Amino acid sequence: MKKLVYIILALTLLSEGTVLRTKDNLSKNVKYDKYGFQPLCATCTGLITVASFILKYDVSEPVVLEFATIICKLFAKQPWAVCDGISSQFRDEFFYVFRRLANESPSQICGIILPDCADPTDPSESGWKVALPPKPKRKTVLKKKEKRPKDVSSSQNMNVLQLTDLHIDFEYKYPSEANCDDPVCCRKSIADPKKAAGYWGSVGKCDIPYWTVENMLSHINKTHMIDMVIMTGDYINHVDWEYSIEEHLSVLRKLHRLVQESFPTTPIYWALGNHEGVPVNSFAPHNVDERFWPTWLYKEFQTMSQPWLSDGSDESLLSFIYRRGSYATKVMDGLKLISLNTGFCEVTNFFLYLNQSDPDSSMSWFVKELYESELKGEKVYVLAHIPPGDSECLEGWAFNYYRVIQRFESTIVAQFFGHDHLDYFTVFYEDMHNVKSKPIGVGYAAPSVTTFEYQNPAYRIYEIDPYDNFKIIDFTTYYADLEAASETRKPVWEKLYSAREAYGMTDLSPISWNAVTQKLFKSDKKREQFYKYAFRNMSPQCDTTCQMQLMCNLRMGHHNSTLYCPTL
Ligand SMILES: *[C@@H]1O[C@H](CO)[C@@H](O)[C@H](O)[C@H]1NC(C)=O
Ligand SMILES: *[C@@H]1O[C@H](CO)[C@@H](O)[C@H](O)[C@H]1NC(C)=O
Ligand SMILES: *[C@@H]1O[C@H](CO)[C@@H](O)[C@H](O)[C@H]1NC(C)=O
Ligand SMILES: *[C@@H]1O[C@H](CO)[C@@H](O)[C@H](O)[C@H]1NC(C)=O
Repeated sequence: MKKLVYIILALTLLSEGTVLRTKDNLSKNVKYDKYGFQPLCATCTGLITVASFILKYDVSEPVVLEFATIICKLFAKQPWAVCDGISSQFRDEFFYVFRRLANESPSQICGIILPDCADPTDPSESGWKVALPPKPKRKTVLKKKEKRPKDVSSSQNMNVLQLTDLHIDFEYKYPSEANCDDPVCCRKSIADPKKAAGYWGSVGKCDIPYWTVENMLSHINKTHMIDMVIMTGDYINHVDWEYSIEEHLSVLRKLHRLVQESFPTTPIYWALGNHEGVPVNSFAPHNVDERFWPTWLYKEFQTMSQPWLSDGSDESLLSFIYRRGSYATKVMDGLKLISLNTGFCEVTNFFLYLNQSDPDSSMSWFVKELYESELKGEKVYVLAHIPPGDSECLEGWAFNYYRVIQRFESTIVAQFFGHDHLDYFTVFYEDMHNVKSKPIGVGYAAPSVTTFEYQNPAYRIYEIDPYDNFKIIDFTTYYADLEAASETRKPVWEKLYSAREAYGMTDLSPISWNAVTQKLFKSDKKREQFYKYAFRNMSPQCDTTCQMQLMCNLRMGHHNSTLYCPTL
């Protein structure tokens, strides 16, 4: 049977004349989606038809899996986690979705692997559009703006601590091997390692030991006045081939306790990251079989969030969290926080391919919450994990998120993200097809606490002005140089940079951030500094591809590399 599969594969390849180009060296003005394979949509569709035919004849699933993985590897334009994932972590999900799609529309499966193959006008694919309410005709200022009391100086500004991508490792071992063959190291005790893991963590392929997180939290507790904590997802380690619901729950509970003990009287707001899913990235919407629903996660998430939710006991709110893994809550007078589950944009959340349109009505709910705030004259902070322009976020979601940011530009004051581990920001424009149009929003992708891969651990504090629309006045990133720490020397947490100082900004408005992008594009020296900050003073493990990606990210509010990547 195996042979037959390969023969069919070979024949199809030959007959359709697929062009497979190898990856060219990256030139300076490479267009990101232009390198790699140049596959043909028709070939992919042909192969999938063959695969679904084979599936109908009850061939064993391993054969089909192997076939699917081969197709995926041939066609995927990047070394993509999806392909390996198909045959391991996502087995169940993959078959469930594959069987349902293979019957209806094989071409849609190719749309998964090849974005060019998706039908951009199909509302169940990337072509969906969430309905946006019209802008109010008159400025509805129902709420009188609070005047800054005369005796209040800028020192009355509030401090918001953002911790993201902790990926805390409760199995970190010392001594152990920091340079192992597994994707994640520092987990097996070994007396005589080639490259020894550090006691407080290892800047490399290792997640962060929980005692370093404890040390960091205790340092923050002692050093800073914190008025509010925001947690933007990915609390679980990177050992995703071993994920289980029990282990996830145990880690979430331990971490929740750790953070709560450091800030017993400070509001803590959580958002879900893609690693909270079991299997990783899996967040089944409610249009699939109930056995896939992540109700266990949403319940735990609700328990973690409840103490600080304004309507914490409201039944409808609770059942709502169960349903979407998102919530909206009043932080103080005039400020609402919306925690948005970006599991619904994750490219390897296979369920989404059954119908990408507004998964579990989360985008239309987001719009409804924003509209309510707009009518009340309230401002909004958005808390989410995956930045929309990230390659792991589906374009349909990103495009709609961008439209929502545009429509509610005067209501949304700030967007906080994580996910990338590297520190960057993204400017949003009035016209998403024109980077010369007016900048109307900024998303902050904050640096990770984990050292995975090759960065020092970091945390960030935003200074906000409660008397000026909760605007961000400045932010400061702190880090610890782990190479200088040892069993006998505790990590030293110190300031890395503040935005205003580092970029010479007078304010943190979208217009000022757009000016920063221009400065970075123009100056090699400023870019070097930016990469160094992104990796927290490590000599950056960042080749030209990685550097270019960071520069693209500065404007990539949704996916169009032609438009958003600079020519350097
Ligand atoms: C890519 O770069 C390597 C080393 O810099 C060089 O040897 C090779 O010829 C280049 N390949 C192409 C296709 O330009
Ligand atoms: C720091 O931790 C201690 C002990 O848990 C707690 O009493 C104190 O309120 C914390 N400080 C802040 C600023 O949260
Ligand atoms: C896809 O989901 C949207 C929104 O939930 C729904 O309106 C639409 O009917 C669904 N389409 C299909 C083909 O199931
Ligand atoms: C990306 O932007 C360019 C320039 O505005 C435009 O020509 C192109 O059609 C866009 N591509 C997509 C896929 O929207």
